[in-house]
Amino acid sequence: MADKVFVDDVSEFGKGEYRTLYKGNTDIAVFNVAGEYYAIEDVCTHDGGVLTGGEVDGEEVECPRHQARFNIKTGEALTPPAFEGVETFKTEVEDEKVYVYVN
Ligand code: FES
Repeated sequence: MADKVFVDDVSEFGKGEYRTLYKGNTDIAVFNVAGEYYAIEDVCTHDGGVLTGGEVDGEEVECPRHQARFNIKTGEALTPPAFEGVETFKTEVEDEKVYVYVN
């Protein structure tokens, strides 16, 4: 069963921002894309680089190491050198707090 993990208060987590956390041996990045929250594994499938810190453009994030782009909503790899998508995680807003579900 997945653990429900607190990420941040909605009031503190603005559009275009992201938060990172480490849970269950997994690095996770949670993004606020136009007021909706999405979570992906914070590890590039090309060569294991950390995705956060790379440019965020709408619903896409660019790996800072070799510029592969991923869809934040779906985890899909959009451009080489990554061809495999990243894992996604369910998020939820409850009582003005953002949560992510981690296995
Ligand atoms: S490690 Fe991300 S593109 Fe190479």
